[in-house]
Amino acid sequence: MSTDAGSLDALLTEDRMFPPPPDFAGRSLVTDAEIYTRAAADREAFWSEWAAELHWFEPWTTVLEWEPPYAKWFVGGKLNVSYNCLDRHLDGPKAKQQALIWEGEPGDTRTFTYEELYVEVCAFGNALKGLGVTKGDRVTIYLPMVPEAAIAMLACARIGAIHSVVFGGFSPESLSDRNNDAAAKVLITADGGWRRGGIVPLKANADAALASSPTIEHVVVVRRGGALSDQVDATMLAGRDHWYHELVAAAPSDCEPESMDAEDTLFILYTSGTTGKPKGVVHTTGGYLTQVAATTKLVFDLQEDDVYWCTADVGWITGHSYIVYGPLANGTRVLMYEGAPDTPDRGRFWELCEKYGVTVFYTAPTAIRAFMQWGDDWPAKFDLSRLRLLGTVGEPINPEAWMWYQKAIGGGRCPIVDTWWQTETGAIMITPLPGITATKPGTATRAFPGIDVSIMNDAGDATNAGYLAITSPWPSMLRTVWGDDQRYRDTYWSRWDNVYFPGDGAKIDSDGYLWILGRVDDVLNVAGHRIGTMEVESALVDHPAVAEAAVVGKTHDIKGQSIAAFVTLRDAFPSSDALLTEIRDHVGIKIGAIAKPEMIVFTADLPKTRSGKIMRRLLRDIAEGRAVGDTTTLADPTVVAKLQAMHAEDES
Ligand code: WT7
Repeated sequence: MSTDAGSLDALLTEDRMFPPPPDFAGRSLVTDAEIYTRAAADREAFWSEWAAELHWFEPWTTVLEWEPPYAKWFVGGKLNVSYNCLDRHLDGPKAKQQALIWEGEPGDTRTFTYEELYVEVCAFGNALKGLGVTKGDRVTIYLPMVPEAAIAMLACARIGAIHSVVFGGFSPESLSDRNNDAAAKVLITADGGWRRGGIVPLKANADAALASSPTIEHVVVVRRGGALSDQVDATMLAGRDHWYHELVAAAPSDCEPESMDAEDTLFILYTSGTTGKPKGVVHTTGGYLTQVAATTKLVFDLQEDDVYWCTADVGWITGHSYIVYGPLANGTRVLMYEGAPDTPDRGRFWELCEKYGVTVFYTAPTAIRAFMQWGDDWPAKFDLSRLRLLGTVGEPINPEAWMWYQKAIGGGRCPIVDTWWQTETGAIMITPLPGITATKPGTATRAFPGIDVSIMNDAGDATNAGYLAITSPWPSMLRTVWGDDQRYRDTYWSRWDNVYFPGDGAKIDSDGYLWILGRVDDVLNVAGHRIGTMEVESALVDHPAVAEAAVVGKTHDIKGQSIAAFVTLRDAFPSSDALLTEIRDHVGIKIGAIAKPEMIVFTADLPKTRSGKIMRRLLRDIAEGRAVGDTTTLADPTVVAKLQAMHAEDES
């Protein structure tokens, strides 16, 4: 099992404790730790209280039906997610309150009140219906961070269509794979989006994907607007492609929300696993919204005057749960930003915090480490005094980065919520409650009320160091892998009996706090993004020059991990720098820029066991320049020496 040496060290030495600052605790939503005992005493009652905060068209009859590994929550209940995020807020003062505050990378802005967002979602819901989308149909959303991304998700939810959001950084091939796996009928994209001053040509990528996406009947294209749309001329195929603004202008603005069963699918989101093929994680309606709304409210301690900013992209689960559904279900003000944190300069995020008076800020450790490297002067230039709560998610946060975040951004006054969860869990699972939990740099502390976690060994016994395990079903859990129940059972439910295996290593300290030590499977976490080593290996061997490839993670100061690839070439292809670049770019073409290996080593052989298994542990040691341990199981021990020599050459 691979563990994060950094967090292990921290666990052994970390004795700094940060109780909630009195000013914060004084006005916090949760002030009494009895919430944990109450939830533990009757988990189903706890979650039904949260479900009852939502608007249901018809009540549920049974809270939980658990036929492992299949769970149904709020059985028989009917509701609509867009109704809960929008309509519900319209008969009071929230109707005129800002719902979405958006800023583009070039500085253009758009805002929507709850009422305005409602009108837009209804109109687009009708537009989708006009294209023949009905309940249960799949719609792919491939958009930049523009308001239409949230609107499209909510419009799908309104009419009962299942959305599958594909991150705008993914390649055409990744997009068509996802279109095909879900058999999506409609694709929603844009002429482009801004990223670091450059244009991401989404429609052109989509066109490339559409050549091999036979199920897509219609394409809706958002005009990003401004200088971008003046520069990009999206080619529109008559009959197939439609401008978003034209459809919406022609659509009626009254759109009845579809009455959805609590267990109807709300969305599919693809995530990397241990095979070459990403999994379509399936989330449903009632349980998902219940846990997402509850955690948003309590973990971020949402109050009437908050301006909430989560810096994730809507293409990831964080964007789904904590930009769109959780905050809007709670009627808060959500800031959404299109671009990069260093455009036009490294103060951009702090400028946005000052400009919009951001009070709650949620980001990833990789971003925090970059800010830390850029220096204290950038945040110091701006007034960050409105900030009152900070959050982090995506990977273990190293205590130095935690301390820096706390001081340089939080001014020593803001609690930090380190939240552990996954695409599959749908919502936050392990986290402090900021008004009552004393935090420690580097640990996500303990399970959210109503969530049962444990640390287990292979045999399924509780231990202080081993695998993280979730021992009871939870409302926002994935229900299956799209079209592949077997993979659902094998991946998550086969290690122990009726206990969920998240794929992370963990330890528990003497205060009962959980330290997440990183993935124990062949999944990397690069800058907070999950990438399967097999996926990258498949992309590498797809190149005509590559005979065999092995991919491992290498510790990286900013990204947490970076990708290292060991590649053997076919005899006809002599190694060269040009070929190395070409092979690296090939991974970008196959998957997307985020999956390009940072380091590629050409090697005549890969270290294998006598049974032919690649010894990744050795490759990790080599990639990180460590002394190589036991090699007695190697079929050919000279391979390692040759590899080390080659890597040394490569580094020099
Ligand atoms: C994996 C899930 C949840 C949204 C972002 C990533 C790692 C996530 C933490 C944290 C330590 C964390 C785990 C997990 N992870 N949050 N607070 N501390 N590790 O979602 O792509 O589904 O990845 O990210 O390894 O399994 P994802």
